[in-house]
Amino acid sequence: MRVAGIRPRRVLLGLALLVVPLLLVACTDPQSTVQPHSDNTRYVQTVYQFVTILAAIVFVAILGATLWLTLAFRERPGRVARQIHGNARLEIVWTLIPVLIVAAIAVPTMNAIAKTSEAPPADAIKVIATGHQWWFEFQYPDLKITTANELHVPAGRAVEVEIHSDDVIHSFWIPQLAGKVDMVPGHNNFMVFTPDADASREEPYLGQCAEYCGTSHANMRFRVYVDQPAKFDEWSKRVAGDRIAPTDELAKKGEQVFLSSACVGCHTVQGTIAAGKVGPNLSHVGSRGTIAAGLLPNTPENLVRWISNPKAVKPGVVKMPAFEGQLTTEQLQAIAAYLQSLK
Ligand code: CUA
Repeated sequence: MRVAGIRPRRVLLGLALLVVPLLLVACTDPQSTVQPHSDNTRYVQTVYQFVTILAAIVFVAILGATLWLTLAFRERPGRVARQIHGNARLEIVWTLIPVLIVAAIAVPTMNAIAKTSEAPPADAIKVIATGHQWWFEFQYPDLKITTANELHVPAGRAVEVEIHSDDVIHSFWIPQLAGKVDMVPGHNNFMVFTPDADASREEPYLGQCAEYCGTSHANMRFRVYVDQPAKFDEWSKRVAGDRIAPTDELAKKGEQVFLSSACVGCHTVQGTIAAGKVGPNLSHVGSRGTIAAGLLPNTPENLVRWISNPKAVKPGVVKMPAFEGQLTTEQLQAIAAYLQSLK
């Protein structure tokens, strides 16, 4: 059937131009939810795939029927349009179909809710995740670790995350590993996920605050490193301990400046007098890949940029003051060298 003005090839090309980029993004984006690497995200994926297939069938059926009816019954010379009112059988059928679809979706949904709410196994690693405007604090109470914005977990072992917030509502989400669970002030939420045994890699998984929480909501990111068990043990022992005292001259000077300035009121560096709890624990900040909650690569230049004027990097920051003008360029560079040395 050919209709003037409509070229089927162009319609197909248009659809391909729309669908192909979407599929490419879904398959390659590091925050794509359709590449699960844990039991938690695989349960979600099961529901997601099922709903997507059903939605695709409904989409094609409705669109196909609409197109066919429009073209087959269009006005033509010698044909008179006829209106029909009411058809009990048809109405029962199109009421029953959505009811059956919703009932079918409920089965995998209930299953996923039950599976993701199961109690954690006894050997699960405990993590307390706290949301702050705009960064994530991670504590491992059993391992005596406090860190920020970069979470390390061993492959193949369950992680139990206790989730709450220090100020407003945030949301904890690692698209390929776990989530989303709201971080609510004054209330504890829990989540359990087990990264796949083959999920370990050098490159981190990306996490993101998923609940609007103010000006820098979009700048509230974190990274999750899934390590081989031996590598995780090495990391956890190192970061639980005191800072490694600087040996380099510039870093030594940086420690003096750091410990004699306002930094100590807000930040902790284990093994020194700095024991503040307002900002991230910096005891091993030099071993983190990024600073400012995943915003900038951890380089001396970026550290100077951040300390000089945090608000210029992350709009809305109020707790961290700008040290531009309060410290000299040499002092800022020394602090950057010191922080970089804290591996
Ligand atoms: Cu925290 Cu959005």
